[in-house]
Amino acid sequence: MNDTYVHGYDQRENIRLQDQASTLVDLLHSDTLFPAGSRVLEAGCGVGAQTITLAKNSPEAHITSIDISAASVAEAKEKIESEGFSNVCFQQDDIFNLSFEPKSFDHIFVCFVLEHLARPAKALNCLKFFLKTAGTITVIEGDHGSSYFYPDSEAAHKAIQCQVELQKRAGGNANIGRELYPLLNAVGFSSIHVSPRMVYVDSSKPRLVEGFTKNTFTAMIEGVRGSSINAGLIDEKTFDDGIRGLYRTTETDGVFCYTFFKAIATK
Ligand SMILES: C[S@@+](CC[C@H](N)C(=O)[O-])C[C@H]1O[C@@H](n2cnc3c(N)ncnc32)[C@H](O)[C@@H]1O
Repeated sequence: MNDTYVHGYDQRENIRLQDQASTLVDLLHSDTLFPAGSRVLEAGCGVGAQTITLAKNSPEAHITSIDISAASVAEAKEKIESEGFSNVCFQQDDIFNLSFEPKSFDHIFVCFVLEHLARPAKALNCLKFFLKTAGTITVIEGDHGSSYFYPDSEAAHKAIQCQVELQKRAGGNANIGRELYPLLNAVGFSSIHVSPRMVYVDSSKPRLVEGFTKNTFTAMIEGVRGSSINAGLIDEKTFDDGIRGLYRTTETDGVFCYTFFKAIATK
């Protein structure tokens, strides 16, 4: 990751990651269960938003969670310990320069990390080196190109596009979800299975209206207001109209859709 990590490391972003994780637990994690005694590497754990669920769902697996940010690792560690889990150990480490023995993990879990990397295939290749033969990798990513809503709003699409463009300028790819199959294939994984996980939100699902449309997706787009305007990507009025357009989809007659992609592949 380079210095312009588009989501930043501030407290609001950490809360957003927590909201995202707790709202999406069933959709993204229900089929991720690691067997007793297996060794699992979570690469790019951030503040531990997914780590909690991994630890809870696979209580007898030995999970090692790493992140390049020492502050995030410290926060993740504190959270996991305060929840009483003892099956996770943490360390600050770089996916491109890991310090483990080769082939030391049965499973690798990567969530919302590749989208920030200029060299996602290289990252997967680096991780593969630490996977045992016949071990599996699970990769979860979003794809902003999959967002559509009612009522439609041109300004909202423009605001979302600012986030896509900023992430691109920072070396990442906010539309990477659709690329998981070709990426894993290019790196030589086999038995690749990608499943799209659509979040469909209307006002009959108030938990998703709050937890996903407002506090995850719209909060993320709102978070790039300043940098988008400063970069000359959009004017203030259009951006603010776009945010209003996104909130408008959370009203009684509104609908919001977004698709995550979850890939599982074997070494
Ligand atoms: C959007 S966060 C996702 C965190 C967590 N996986 C989640 O789903 O909540 C992306 C994380 O990847 C980490 N990251 C980026 N590049 C990395 C690298 N080269 N090695 C390890 N972690 C990295 C960042 O520090 C950040 O915590």
